[in-house]
Amino acid sequence: MQKILVVGSINMDLSFECKRLPNLGETIISNNYKKYCGGKGANQAVALARLESDVTMIGVVGDDNYGHELCSNLKFNQVKTTGIRFSKEVSSGLASIIVDETGNNQIVVYPGANYELLVPDIDKLEALIVETDYVVCQLEIPIVTVEYVLQKAKQLGKTTILNCAPARELTKKILEYCDFLIPNETELQVITNTHYPLINETELITATQKLSKQGVKNIIVTLGAKGVLYANAEQTQFLKAFSVKAIDSTAAGDSFIGGFVTSLANGKTIVDSLEFANKVAAITVTRRGAQISLPYLYEVENYRFSS
Ligand code: RIB
Repeated sequence: MQKILVVGSINMDLSFECKRLPNLGETIISNNYKKYCGGKGANQAVALARLESDVTMIGVVGDDNYGHELCSNLKFNQVKTTGIRFSKEVSSGLASIIVDETGNNQIVVYPGANYELLVPDIDKLEALIVETDYVVCQLEIPIVTVEYVLQKAKQLGKTTILNCAPARELTKKILEYCDFLIPNETELQVITNTHYPLINETELITATQKLSKQGVKNIIVTLGAKGVLYANAEQTQFLKAFSVKAIDSTAAGDSFIGGFVTSLANGKTIVDSLEFANKVAAITVTRRGAQISLPYLYEVENYRFSS
C-alpha cells in the first residue's frame, strides 16, 4: 500500500451557526455553538485515513488540553502521529468559524503552535519523508517549512501536493516543487496576482496557463458547487460537482484533497481521482463540523447522488 505524509496544521475549531454572516462592524447572535477537531492539515490526514489510506502526520500542537485532544482524535482516526510534537511554549492552534444557513463560512485562524513547525523539525523527521510515497502540504504552517518539505520530498523522488489554503503568495521554488497545486478561486487569484473582482472561465484558464509557464505540472482549481478545473501544459478540463444540499462547507476542500490523493495512491487516473474527490467533498458539505464530517470509504461507495 502506498504511504501518504501530511505536513500541516492542527487546530481546535470553535464553530458558530448563524442565520447569516456578520457585516463589517456588526455583532450577530449565533443559534448554536460547537467545538470540533480541525486544522487543514489534520482534516486532510483524517480524510485520507477514513478513506483507508496509510497516513502519517507531521505537525505541532500545544502541550495543553486541546493539543492532547487533537492528537488523540488523530490516533482514533488511524492517523499515525509519530511526527507530532507538543510545544511547551505556545498553545494549540485555534479557529473561529461562522457558518451561515446556506453552509457558507468565514474562518479566522490563530496559528499558535502550528507556527512552531520549523526546518529543524523536518530534519529530525526526515525518515518519514524517505519512507513515504506522497507528501501533502497546506499553508497554515510557516512558508519556509512548506518550501523545505517540498524541496526535500522532490529530491527524494516523492509526489508532492500543495493545497494553497489559506491564500498566500508563493515563491518560485514552491511552484517548481509541486506536482499538484490545488487552490480555490480566491487562492488562485492571490498566487497569480490576478485580482479580478469575479473570475470567469476564460480568466481561470488564463491564470492556470500562467502557472503552467512557471513550471507547475498540474493545477486543480476547486470551484465549490461549480466543480473543478484541471489544467496542465497540454489541456484544461472542467468537471462538475455532485449536487447536494449543503449545510456546512467547513473542511470540504480538505475532504477533496483526501479523496484526490487516496484515489491517486490507489493507481487511478487524475480525472478519475478528481471525480472521486468531488464525491467525497459533496458528502462532507451535508454534515456539520470539520473532521467529524469527513466520510468513510464505505459511505462514499454507497452514497446515492441525485442526478
Ligand atoms: O479547512 C477548514 C479548516 O480551516 C478548519 O478546520 C480550521 O481549523 C481551518 O484550519
